[in-house]
Amino acid sequence: MMQATEEIKELSEDEKFEKLDEIIEQNRGQEGILINVLHQAQQIFGHLSRKIQVHIAEGLDIPFSKVYAVISFYSLFSTEMRGKYTIEVCTGTACYVKGAEDILEQFKTELEIEPGETTEDGLFTLETTRCIGACGMAPVIKVGDDTHGRLKEDQVSDLLDKYE
Ligand code: FES
Repeated sequence: MMQATEEIKELSEDEKFEKLDEIIEQNRGQEGILINVLHQAQQIFGHLSRKIQVHIAEGLDIPFSKVYAVISFYSLFSTEMRGKYTIEVCTGTACYVKGAEDILEQFKTELEIEPGETTEDGLFTLETTRCIGACGMAPVIKVGDDTHGRLKEDQVSDLLDKYE
């Protein structure tokens, strides 16, 4: 049984790999083992880096290429470290007209990352997105499940401070 997410987050890197080994043992011999293990590994680490992929391939005694092929096929698996919150800056037409570009620049400056990247503290991943259907509130951004509309550049810093 998977531990609560909060507990897993507290584990050190070594402990996470120990947990992964336990999962590999528990699943050994079962059908769909690779998908199952990958799924649980992503829950533990938040992503599936090359190091994790190699560890799983060795643990299951299967070629690395097979692990890599499955990860590439299923979009639910991510090879990049993801932040606790994903910030999506809408760059659809309505938001663009209302200054989405400047908003995006402000996030880049505040977080010191480019779209597609994650802050070093693991808190935020920055992304751009197409219209999210809230054009009436343009410019719109999302932080996790929260939608923020009519955002101004000088509000970005305070907004980020609300998330920890
Ligand atoms: S264009 Fe941004 S919400 Fe529609």
